[in-house]
Amino acid sequence: MGRWWVSGLLSLLAVAAAAAAAEGNAEPLIRLPTQNEHDAAPAPAPSAEEEEVTRWAVLVAGSSGYENYRHQADVCHAYQILKRGGLKEENIVVFMYDDIAKNPANPRHGVIINHPKGKDVYAGVPKDYTGDQVTTKNFFAVLMGNKTAVTRGSRKVINSKPNDHIFIYYADHGTAGSLGMPTNPWLYADDFIKVLREKHASKSYSKMVIYVEACESGSMFEGIMPQDLNIYVTTAANAVESSWGTYCPGMNPPPPIEYTTCLGDLYSVSWMEDSETHNLKKETIKGQYDVVKKRTLNLNGDRTDGSHVMEYGDKTFKDEKLFRYQGFDPANANNTSSLPLSGPQGVIN
Ligand SMILES: *[C@@H]1O[C@H](CO)[C@@H](O)[C@H](O)[C@H]1NC(C)=O
Ligand SMILES: *[C@@H]1O[C@H](CO)[C@@H](O)[C@H](O)[C@H]1NC(C)=O
Ligand SMILES: *[C@@H]1O[C@H](CO)[C@@H](O)[C@H](O)[C@H]1NC(C)=O
Repeated sequence: MGRWWVSGLLSLLAVAAAAAAAEGNAEPLIRLPTQNEHDAAPAPAPSAEEEEVTRWAVLVAGSSGYENYRHQADVCHAYQILKRGGLKEENIVVFMYDDIAKNPANPRHGVIINHPKGKDVYAGVPKDYTGDQVTTKNFFAVLMGNKTAVTRGSRKVINSKPNDHIFIYYADHGTAGSLGMPTNPWLYADDFIKVLREKHASKSYSKMVIYVEACESGSMFEGIMPQDLNIYVTTAANAVESSWGTYCPGMNPPPPIEYTTCLGDLYSVSWMEDSETHNLKKETIKGQYDVVKKRTLNLNGDRTDGSHVMEYGDKTFKDEKLFRYQGFDPANANNTSSLPLSGPQGVIN
């Protein structure tokens, strides 16, 4: 194990150095694990810890087609939350097919909503990887910060440093051990965990939080997600059950009458509506997990109309505040309202 790690790291460094040279990148990309970007100049007082941390995010909608409106709506909404939270556009990489806003079936041309009374979440979302650029290969390359491995798209990658935080959010269909992508191949659990191990070995983040919405999403991590990568994961469902769409026609609450599709997914809107109504400098990762788990379970009397939100990976930093990953929107600083919707909600697979 130790030997593998060392040789893996060295070859990774060598290749990265070659890639950097090939790109004529003057800034040395490669740092020894003990170095950081401030080594050249005396570091300012470390009380400014937060200022040295760059927050990065990768948002992935893995589907296409108007009937899957909700996944891209979820991802656009997540972008808006992170952006208002102060993450910079250059640090948020968005994967979405981008066939919804201007779809002939969309009753509000150029607009995407993620809540029956929601405002447009589409405006301003960067088109980093759209259409057939939404691939597993590009996703892995982006996460690894490897520009040379990216095919087309904006070529924005997670060029993160050792102190940085990374937030990954994925929404789509899934099945045992895999997550959907609009273009084959799908994203397979073993490959994903291998890439997470490589990212960890490259020492280019301090902590990572991953939220996954998909049917059987627990199967991506159950029994295989390492606990020593500084990565905390929650999934919408356990390894063997569906996750659920919500705000669907004929349900309570329904989307506006002109919509023939679901606007969101239950786990996804649960975390996002929670983030929008709390002070993220006070709410912890654990706090959000608890709220989202309860809402996503969607108890209807004795019946569970939802799914079991699961957690995996490193659970030792759940007391950290959410703003370290999702940013902080001062407009929500005093908002202590509970979720706008409580009680059972209509859902659909
Ligand atoms: C980056 O991608 C290129 C092209 O796929 C690959 O040859 C190289 O090994 C990758 N570099 C790293 C550091 O993984
Ligand atoms: C809290 O957030 C909700 C949802 O965004 C909003 O409707 C409400 O007005 C906010 N309350 C305060 C006190 O800002
Ligand atoms: C929140 O409350 C603090 C303290 O009362 C106040 O200074 C601040 O302006 C409030 N923020 C908002 C957005 O209402």
